[in-house]
Amino acid sequence: MNILVIHGPNLHWLGKREPAAYGHTTLKTLNALIKKHSAARGAKVRCFQSNCEGAIIDLLTANSAWADALIINPAAYTHYSYAIRDAIKASGLSAVEVHLSDISKREPFRKVSVIKPVCVKQIKGLGADSYLSAIDFAVKNVKTRG
Ligand code: DQA
Repeated sequence: MNILVIHGPNLHWLGKREPAAYGHTTLKTLNALIKKHSAARGAKVRCFQSNCEGAIIDLLTANSAWADALIINPAAYTHYSYAIRDAIKASGLSAVEVHLSDISKREPFRKVSVIKPVCVKQIKGLGADSYLSAIDFAVKNVKTRG
């Protein structure tokens, strides 16, 4: 199982950005946790972070032949990027949308996800464990291309 992980805008600040909402784990530590958790389940991962909508679409495109599953935290793009939504659909990948915080319990604009309809699962509110649960979900439920 090959899993592509994409972190969206402002997630490079993790650890110092609004820790009450996003915790104290840095992006470097989060990626290390993701890699360890995946390796223990026999999955390979590629982790990327970008602050740019077009760059996220390019990363998805460039890795879509390699990946069996996509785990994406679209960050603020969650709430309005039809371009990322279309790219996920176009890639044909089984995608899991993840959020560190529980977007359903925050400001009204965060309750809307335009990404959710093109994903097989949305996992939110578990901090770093949102990503680890997404790996478990992908390993259990997504078929490899073999
Ligand atoms: C987030 C929630 C988004 O609303 C926000 O813009 C983020 C992070 C989360 O992981 O909880 O940047 O996706």
